[in-house]
Amino acid sequence: MNTSSAYKRIVIRNIVEEAQNVKSFQLEYADGSPLKYEPGQFITFIFPRNGQDEGDRRSYSFSTTPGIDATPAITIKRIENGEYSRWFIDNAKPGNTLLTIGTSGHFTLPENLQEYKKLIFFAAGSGITPIYSLLKHVLVTYPHLPVVLIYSGRQADDTVFYEELTQLQKQYSDQLTIEYLFSTSRNLSRARLGKLLLEALLKQYSGTDHRNTLFYLCGPYEYMRMATIVLQTEGVPADNIRKENFATRRPVQKNEPPDKNKHAVELRLNGNVYSFETEFPETILQHAKKLNIPIPYSCESGQCGTCAASCIKGKVWMWNNEVLVDSEVEKGRTLTCTGYPVGGDVILEIK
Ligand code: FES
Repeated sequence: MNTSSAYKRIVIRNIVEEAQNVKSFQLEYADGSPLKYEPGQFITFIFPRNGQDEGDRRSYSFSTTPGIDATPAITIKRIENGEYSRWFIDNAKPGNTLLTIGTSGHFTLPENLQEYKKLIFFAAGSGITPIYSLLKHVLVTYPHLPVVLIYSGRQADDTVFYEELTQLQKQYSDQLTIEYLFSTSRNLSRARLGKLLLEALLKQYSGTDHRNTLFYLCGPYEYMRMATIVLQTEGVPADNIRKENFATRRPVQKNEPPDKNKHAVELRLNGNVYSFETEFPETILQHAKKLNIPIPYSCESGQCGTCAASCIKGKVWMWNNEVLVDSEVEKGRTLTCTGYPVGGDVILEIK
């Protein structure tokens, strides 16, 4: 079955150079329909290989904010060994069209944001991209919510959105505090976000009771790992830490589900119902792909959230989940790319 009907064509309308090897790409659907997304989300492209629709998939975060920026744009940094980021930075031109499965992502603001007393963003390098999108939304929509941005880069000159952020800091001086940590700084105690500096910043901006502070982290793998460990060690509830993984590393499956038996899966997707049986070692996503079911996915390793589904009957065990917080999992949210049905049959819904 050709699954291209599940894909849409998107056009690069304009390209803006943001810093060395970093560009923003303004996007529009080729059919003129609105490109809908939430602050902090990303778009997943499909790059066909050998004329096959099921080519490579890559996701890129929006730096723009709906309702504030007129045209949606993603911001991409050139990665030396990143085939598609190199294509975007070196070769992409206005007018180029791409295939997409659309927008998704869990690095978004909770519905109960007004219940929090403070928002602290941690960004490193191009990890600023989704955080810039979230930040603009919060400043405009929640004027009474104090916001802190702790942003690690090399130096002001090549820091993405440095001028725009400095402007925002002036404009929202009562609400927004920005701490730049430049690795070229002579003050070594403020050059990199390490354990001691993070503990000090946490105390300064969140005090000792972190239940009413929400944290958003985006950056390289080691940065995120260190920050997550320190925040949790300092008593930040896991539910208050939201992460967007920009890592290119894929985790390796180390553990196996407690139940490796065959179970039936009913998958409700876009008004269609697909039924199949699957068993270890094939995840739900792997089996669905084999059957050419147009199920959304990107990273295939529990790191992006594109494949998230609601489990409305039964239980799904995941070998990796770096996106869903505990309270979401408790409500039945799950990932099909790392998930196996366990203990019986399951019904999943993807909206
Ligand atoms: S496809 Fe990325 S988390 Fe499942």
